[in-house]
Amino acid sequence: MKSSKALVTLIGFWMPLMGLISADQVSFSRDVLPILSENCFYCHGPDEDHRKAGLRLDVETSALALVDGEAAVKPGKPKDSLVIKRVFSKDPDEIMPPPDSLKELSPEEQQTLQQWIAAGAPWGKHWAFEPPTKSEIPISGSHPIDYFVQQRLGLEGWTLAEEAPRHTLLRRLSFDLTGLPPSHEEVQDFETDPSPDAHLRQVERLLRSPHHGERMAMWWLDAARYADTDGYQGDATRANWPWRDWVVQAFNENMPFDQFTLEQFAGDLLPDATPEQILATSFHRNHMTNGEGGRDPEESRIDYVIDRVNTVGTYGWG
Ligand code: HEC
Repeated sequence: MKSSKALVTLIGFWMPLMGLISADQVSFSRDVLPILSENCFYCHGPDEDHRKAGLRLDVETSALALVDGEAAVKPGKPKDSLVIKRVFSKDPDEIMPPPDSLKELSPEEQQTLQQWIAAGAPWGKHWAFEPPTKSEIPISGSHPIDYFVQQRLGLEGWTLAEEAPRHTLLRRLSFDLTGLPPSHEEVQDFETDPSPDAHLRQVERLLRSPHHGERMAMWWLDAARYADTDGYQGDATRANWPWRDWVVQAFNENMPFDQFTLEQFAGDLLPDATPEQILATSFHRNHMTNGEGGRDPEESRIDYVIDRVNTVGTYGWG
């Protein structure tokens, strides 16, 4: 037992340096695609005007295509793959990404590409387009989430802390679910609740609280660049809070995400749009608004359109 614990600790210690534990754990969408898209697609991606050496690394057939017996990616053969030769090259004229692009792969990223090709270069899509798959969960007494937490703790060589006292638990839970501390009475109720599902009951109480929607809305309001003022010189107050309240209510009613986004992007275009669905599109009006007398209206309009496109199109939301 002692030695296996030591091994676990050792692995835990080296994990950040190793990046990944073994080749079969490399996931295309999680590990490889972000490296390629951040460092390679600018010159080897969809944009024809930037494409270099006629090479696309965003399309599997192009990455695997043989040209004079050479291919960017030869599944199972990292040493014969041009990507690996170029990424590990010591020659500044050969190395990818080129030094003048000011992009550089870390040793872990280089390793990831190598491990991925060694493992047969399984291709995939961005994770958002991959159907979710269920992980194998061994039959054990613990809750599946506890099982995964335990597994990771083991890898890091850590163990669970002692259970916190009830007033601490409730404080954490309340901040998590409502963004607010619990009242004195709520703490007392929880501390004196003898039932085995006392914790679960607190979770359910907090999920039913109207403050839960406010808490959830917080991140969306940030991503949607909500503000109570216009953002330019005078920074005059604006009255777009009915849209903010629409978001809070949507969370409190557990509106499905597709409907939530659809109504905000184009609720006004829905057949027989309700006033609420029209209100939802105020999402597009959260941009800064310039009320300065001397501004060029067309310039401002273009600014707003750019801001709107960036907000709708920026990945990494939510
Ligand atoms: C700033 C532009 C730029 C970026 C970014 C870039 N490349 Fe390149 N790449 C080039 C150019 C230009 C060439 C052709 C000149 C040469 O062969 O060095 C090339 C050639 C290659 C080749 C050789 C293709 C052949 O048919 O011989 C491979 C493989 C390659 N790049 C892989 C990568 C990988 C992998 C990345 C990201 C880690 C990357 N490149 C990032 C510009 C870029």
